[in-house]
Amino acid sequence: MALVGSGSATPNQSLNNDQLGQRVDTNDDWIRTRTGIRSRRVIGPNETLTGLSHSAGLSAMSMAGWEPESVELILLATSTPDDLFGSAPQIQAKLGAFNAASFDLTAACSGFLFALVTAAQFLRNGSMKRALVIGADQLTRWVDWDDRRSCVLFGDGAGAVALEATSSEKDGLLGFKLKSDGSRGDCLNLPQVQDYLPLVPGTSHQRGGFSPIQMNGKEVYKFAVREVPEILEELLQVNEILPENLDWLLLHQANQRILDAVADRFAIPQHKVLSNLAMYGNTSAATIPLMLAEAVNDGRVKSGDLIASSGFGAGLSWGAALMRWQGPI
Ligand code: COA
Repeated sequence: MALVGSGSATPNQSLNNDQLGQRVDTNDDWIRTRTGIRSRRVIGPNETLTGLSHSAGLSAMSMAGWEPESVELILLATSTPDDLFGSAPQIQAKLGAFNAASFDLTAACSGFLFALVTAAQFLRNGSMKRALVIGADQLTRWVDWDDRRSCVLFGDGAGAVALEATSSEKDGLLGFKLKSDGSRGDCLNLPQVQDYLPLVPGTSHQRGGFSPIQMNGKEVYKFAVREVPEILEELLQVNEILPENLDWLLLHQANQRILDAVADRFAIPQHKVLSNLAMYGNTSAATIPLMLAEAVNDGRVKSGDLIASSGFGAGLSWGAALMRWQGPI
């Protein structure tokens, strides 16, 4: 399986830290020093998550040089679909990818890596040749904008990669590891509201709806700085790759301090650490493909580059992948 295209799309509206300070008791200095975030994008009235996902997917397909009918699988990694039954089929229709099976996959901020690995299985076992994997989230619709401990972190965006089946010698997914631990899930969640209404005498039903994001920031921080280096270390060891042989470290963009801590642990210099969270904040499943698309477009990531990536977040879920960027074949 080769990574042959990438694309991204972000909303037009941006919201900087000073503007956020008009809503909650916070300020630019606090947010920048604790997180590295300066601004984030917020989906407005004339945009949708499906629309952004479509744009990102279209860019990835066009970089790969694909006709829409040749795509056989579209995976949308998201926790915030426009439709709870799944938004991937809407993207498929907008792309004109009529031969693609399409479905959503949810693993919060690890969603993109989980979807990438899932798509790779179809391509490696020979059942499909071309897959589009999109990571997209609109957490701004589920953030409690009066909770300064969490609302400063999140933003909206979409990123996509085009994956093509190849011979095993040319496989661009050198290795991966995925993990989950539901027993620690309560430090970051977006739960159903517990709202029961009478249906008929003696029977009630639950009304649909979710309560805003609930987060124990300190616990999530500790989880990330413990588990991400561990899973990356396991992956590097199994694949007999030394950290100095990596071209790029591409982590889920949650907090610059987490990126720095992981890079320090492996003595990876700052110029090899991809980071754009100052501009976008944490866009959940979108961060990794959004960052990749940006670095491919501006020429930083080149064909043949070796990338160590790790996603982590609610679930709890986390994962890591070693990838070689191929670009258009
Ligand atoms: N602006 C100003 N002050 C704030 C604030 C804000 N936005 N948020 C919290 N504070 C205050 C707190 O009230 C507290 O004040 P106190 O000492 O008077 O009680 C102080 O700042 C320290 O708060 P604390 O929660 O201890 O800060 P922290 O150093 O742990 O940083 C996070 C908070 C959220 C930035 C940090 O814990 C974090 O990044 N965690 C990971 C979150 C994450 O990445 N989630 C998504 C994972 S996918």
